[in-house]
Amino acid sequence: MLAYRHAFHAGAAADVLKHVVLLDVLARMATKDKGFLYVDTHAGAGRYALDQRMAQRLAEYAGGIGALWPRTDAPPPVQRYVDAVRACNPGGALRVYPGSPLLAASRLREQDGMVLFELHPADYRALRAEFGADAQLRPEDGFNGLKALLPPPTRRGVVLIDPSYELDSDYARVLGCLRDALTRFATGVYLVWYPQLQSLESVQLPRRLKALAPAGWLHAQLTTAAPRADGYGLLGSGMFVINPPYGLHDALRESLPWLADALGERGAARWVLDAHQP
Ligand SMILES: C[S@@+](CC[C@H](N)C(=O)[O-])C[C@H]1O[C@@H](n2cnc3c(N)ncnc32)[C@H](O)[C@@H]1O
Repeated sequence: MLAYRHAFHAGAAADVLKHVVLLDVLARMATKDKGFLYVDTHAGAGRYALDQRMAQRLAEYAGGIGALWPRTDAPPPVQRYVDAVRACNPGGALRVYPGSPLLAASRLREQDGMVLFELHPADYRALRAEFGADAQLRPEDGFNGLKALLPPPTRRGVVLIDPSYELDSDYARVLGCLRDALTRFATGVYLVWYPQLQSLESVQLPRRLKALAPAGWLHAQLTTAAPRADGYGLLGSGMFVINPPYGLHDALRESLPWLADALGERGAARWVLDAHQP
């Protein structure tokens, strides 16, 4: 039984990093006319009401999108993301947070396709209500389901792998799923979100991902909180991109210092950006 509900965390600093990277990648994919397939292996509910009980309980969005909402000095990649969230809040006040499926849908063109996997029955129902026939929806395990979609017919694709890591086995499943996906579709663009924790699995994941991706990768990490004495708690998060599109590195070099300053606790804010292009 899945306990994790993204509604508690929607719009937090971790979503900001993930969604800035996602939108930048999708914008770069759309510079070519040929269509591409977008696959979200862990889609969530698609849309989150920030004034409802789950979002209000921890109010994590206040330290993420909420902190960016009044700013007028964001670098263009961050501004593009804030504008996409604004488009879901026509009244001007921040009430709704769009998850990755909705943000992706705002960038996709007629020639592109979208497949969304979501295992939680309530979040799957929400996705169905949101998208109906406008996306291929799968109430299935995204790690397993991805392989049947690769390679996409147009040989162009972006895959977001965004598990909750509520099970430690998710770390190994991310690696296994990617290993398999790369044998089927080596040129795909794969985006992996991971939590920055004081745990061995979390610390080792970027190194393990690098070993999987000899053809090119980019790794961005945004730390917003100081380590706690008890070893628990989220310090920040990372995005690992396999086959990153040209220009993403420059966009993040511009955005990460600004985001660290805007979202990080005093004295704790850090960012990392490294990449390998053979
Ligand atoms: C971090 S949330 C996704 C957030 C979403 N990608 C976004 O950025 O808005 C992870 C989601 O994966 C779902 N989930 C967990 N295990 C799954 C699996 N094996 N396959 C598909 N969905 C899964 C959870 O129910 C949860 O809604």
